[in-house]
Amino acid sequence: MQIIDLEKRHIKDVYVIDTYYFSSFKEKLSLASALLFRRIFTSFRVAVIDGRVVGSCSIINLRDGCHINNISVDFRYRNKGIGQKLLLDIMGIAKANGNQILLLEVRQSNQTAISLYKKHGFIEYGLKKNYYPLKPRGKEDAVLMQKIL
Ligand SMILES: CC(C)(COP(=O)(O)OP(=O)(O)OC[C@H]1O[C@@H](n2cnc3c(N)ncnc32)[C@H](O)[C@@H]1OP(=O)(O)O)[C@@H](O)C(=O)NCCC(=O)NCCS
Repeated sequence: MQIIDLEKRHIKDVYVIDTYYFSSFKEKLSLASALLFRRIFTSFRVAVIDGRVVGSCSIINLRDGCHINNISVDFRYRNKGIGQKLLLDIMGIAKANGNQILLLEVRQSNQTAISLYKKHGFIEYGLKKNYYPLKPRGKEDAVLMQKIL
């Protein structure tokens, strides 16, 4: 497996794998324009096996710091260590870019992701109440996490 920068040929695979983050037209457009204009995402990495994307992870620098935007692994390839390899890769890039802290938001119910982040030194520092929509109705809190790099 290789972890490399996203290229145009990977874009369809990324949409298919990361149906949560890239579910809306706006998010799909943001990925397409990131490729075209090399902006929006500070770094967008993909895990590739035999030319096929099996996971992705990106960071974005906002006013309050560097955020993990998405991390996602194809469900057929989960629990094989790919998620943590992507996380370590993107943490290395964020640090090399001079960031001292990495931030993220995650659904409170997403214990798989929370466990992954905690394993790699992220701590919870707050909640955003009713941040995520829930299907078919309702809202869910976001857990705010951070890691000193
Ligand atoms: C979260 C996700 C990226 C993890 O990817 P993965 O490749 O399966 O994870 P890894 O195999 O590298 O596992 C690393 C750690 O994650 C946690 N983890 C992974 N699967 C888990 C599960 N089913 N239950 C609890 N913890 C789990 C564990 O801490 C694990 O460490 P361990 O193997 O020592 O127990 C993957 O489940 C995914 O794509 N989920 C859907 C998208 C998503 O929710 N992204 C996060 C948005 S903030």
